[in-house]
Amino acid sequence: RTVYVNGAFLAEDDAKISVFDRGFLFADGVYEVTTVLKGKLVDFEPHMARLTRSLNALQMARPVGEAELRDIHEKLVALNELDEGIVYLQVTRGIADRDFAYPADAAPSLVMFTQARPVVDNPKVEKGIAVMTVPDIRWRRRDIKTVGLLPASMAKQAALEAGYGDAWFVEDGLITEGSSNNAFIVNADGAVITRQLTSDILHGITRDAILRLAREDNITIIERPFTPGEAENAKEAFITSASTFLMPVVAINHSTIGDGKPGPISRKLRQHYVDAAF
Ligand code: PDD
Repeated sequence: RTVYVNGAFLAEDDAKISVFDRGFLFADGVYEVTTVLKGKLVDFEPHMARLTRSLNALQMARPVGEAELRDIHEKLVALNELDEGIVYLQVTRGIADRDFAYPADAAPSLVMFTQARPVVDNPKVEKGIAVMTVPDIRWRRRDIKTVGLLPASMAKQAALEAGYGDAWFVEDGLITEGSSNNAFIVNADGAVITRQLTSDILHGITRDAILRLAREDNITIIERPFTPGEAENAKEAFITSASTFLMPVVAINHSTIGDGKPGPISRKLRQHYVDAAF
């Protein structure tokens, strides 16, 4: 695989990052994951707009301009002959002697790589996944897409060890979001319910796109938090993220959701998004 590190396209074994990079020492970095379908980037502009918001929130310098970011993405896709999968981008504050305060003069590091994976023909979509709820032990700025992902990693690991497909975080009795995705339910009236955008969750690019498509279908959207109990009694549930698009959720903890199969609204919205991406 060819990866990108600070201006160079290199074989992955030749790519190096300093021991003193603040991304490594402090998780002082932000990232984006952009889907590639048929060699084309999906929702590239909103992903880069969110990157800018993450950088600004942390007073982190932008390593290269937007046009160059697009060039690097496209070059990596071409060099790796990526047809379907993701491009991962990470910016860290850069290299400095270890100190908690931000260094005055560090140059940001930019790393990018591709991962091939099935997005459209993901075999899990047919059956949907079961989710397990876990306490949300993350920090209070979940709207910043930082590489500090240990709580998410712990949650996913606990869910997999218990035989579930993923974890949903719960805070104050309410679902916040999934370990690496936004959470939705569909109520008895066919309305889609998902938490409103605050610093409690990541502002998902796929969430935005799916809500836009739902509006076009005249589906009622209610942006508010919901409880695990409501999810148990929902007609349908699903998650959204760049890497899964929309994945049906058919059970939560020990309860089946709806008839335990991916529901019609979930299937329809997923299909719309796939069609729009092509
Ligand atoms: N995760 N919420 C969290 C906590 C996430 O990590 C993600 C994305 C999302 C969905 O955002 P988007 O639709 O913009 O991908 C919501 C990425 C895919 C990841 O960490 O791999």
